[in-house]
Amino acid sequence: MRTETNINEQEAAKQREIMERLKVRLAKKSEELGRPLTYCSVCFGCQMNAKDSEKLEGILETIGYVRTESEEADFLIMNTCTVRENANLRVYGRLGQLKKLKKKNPEMMIALCGCMMQESLVVEKIKQSYRHVDIIFGTHNVFKLAELIENKLDSKGMVIDIWEGTTEIVEDLPSDRKYDFKCGVNIMFGCNNFCSYCIVPYVRGRERSRKPEDIIDEIEKLVSDGVVEVMLLGQNVNSYGKTLDEPISFAELLKRVEQIEGLKRIRFMTSHPKDLSDELLEVMANSTKICKHLHLPMQSGSTKILSDMNRRYTKEDYLALVDKIKTAIPDISLTTDIIVGFPTETEEDFLDTLDVVRKVRFDSAFTFIYSKRTGTPAATMEFASTEEEIKERFNRLLHEVQEIAKETCSKDEGKTMEVLVEGLDEQDESLLTGRLSNNLLVHFPGDVSLIGTFQNVKLSEAKGFYYIGELV
Ligand code: 5AD
Ligand code: SF4
Repeated sequence: MRTETNINEQEAAKQREIMERLKVRLAKKSEELGRPLTYCSVCFGCQMNAKDSEKLEGILETIGYVRTESEEADFLIMNTCTVRENANLRVYGRLGQLKKLKKKNPEMMIALCGCMMQESLVVEKIKQSYRHVDIIFGTHNVFKLAELIENKLDSKGMVIDIWEGTTEIVEDLPSDRKYDFKCGVNIMFGCNNFCSYCIVPYVRGRERSRKPEDIIDEIEKLVSDGVVEVMLLGQNVNSYGKTLDEPISFAELLKRVEQIEGLKRIRFMTSHPKDLSDELLEVMANSTKICKHLHLPMQSGSTKILSDMNRRYTKEDYLALVDKIKTAIPDISLTTDIIVGFPTETEEDFLDTLDVVRKVRFDSAFTFIYSKRTGTPAATMEFASTEEEIKERFNRLLHEVQEIAKETCSKDEGKTMEVLVEGLDEQDESLLTGRLSNNLLVHFPGDVSLIGTFQNVKLSEAKGFYYIGELV
């Protein structure tokens, strides 16, 4: 376990030096080959992983790799997720296929990183069965990619560097932002909640908050670079700041972020219901920049299951919290995560989940079938229901959630609202796609020059989970 101070500037300087060396070395290689060296970046999982991938891509671009979407690249990096078993299976499937590509291009390097690599059994399996992997690292040392590539170029074997944990935060390294006008900003890392089904605290380590002044600095730089919307990222943003030498609340941080001139929209993810404060609701209600959207994972509606999950709130607590939120911010959009088939869940418990879904009327819900994660407390619990019963419950929940979301999401039909134009519609390139404050998408005719700007759009037709609109 490392115990360095919070921000490690020396480390960042060291990495920048390595990047300079590699740049020269890879330029030579590219000259010998008579073509640019390419990289392909594959990312599974959550917003935290997406943010890490931007950092990895920033390093790769700095040392001279050119991005390609094809896996036939000189450098392939896969940032993995392990929150559910099928995420792991997808990685093994992809690795099998990559073996053939590597035979075709012996220059190819394959790197694996992210949450799945923090599990020792996974690394053992890769060492034994996937010898064509070149570099393995985890969630705590993303900033070290250049150094690991240099090590690989200087050695024959697999380079493996997994840290069990860290108290260190290395900043000020390049990042290849996906959008010019919006950006995710880490405000904290790790999680201390140990929900009994969840592997995240084991693979992302203990909760660490960044200092408010570093966060503000980063956002100010982003804004001067053209960013108008930020998404503050953390596994449990509501407990932000508690571990700092000078503790501050998440609500206080939001107030400071709000003051940044030029910044137009603030989002954040994820809120744990047990830590959501009245102060936060007050700040949200009075803010002109904080988007009217809360992602508030409920996981289950049964007090018994919530207790077995170690969520530290009851069904009644959750419902009372939702009431309080809706009173404080009437036009709020609420979204959630729900797990079906937690080992001890019975039909009666599931009916409690359906009951909460019907009472709250979420704008959308991510629904998951419980997936056993070895090493977590729930992994040793006996199942109270069969697989068929769980699948049937899952389908019932999905149907309910979708029917309600269709209605809830249509409530603004006919109104004119402001969107941030994000890009071309993926299905129909004659349309633009914009995002409302409440996180819903609107597709409407318009010119590409509007991308990155705010526009007023009439929400002409509700389509369930999105709108078709027109510029006004
Ligand atoms: N099985 C199923 N879903 C899970 N999640 C976390 N761990 C598991 C698991 N073992 C879900 C939770 C969480 C979301 C990110 O993933 O709903 O909020
Ligand atoms: Fe996992 Fe619970 Fe932490 Fe979320 S709050 S990352 S579900 S342990």
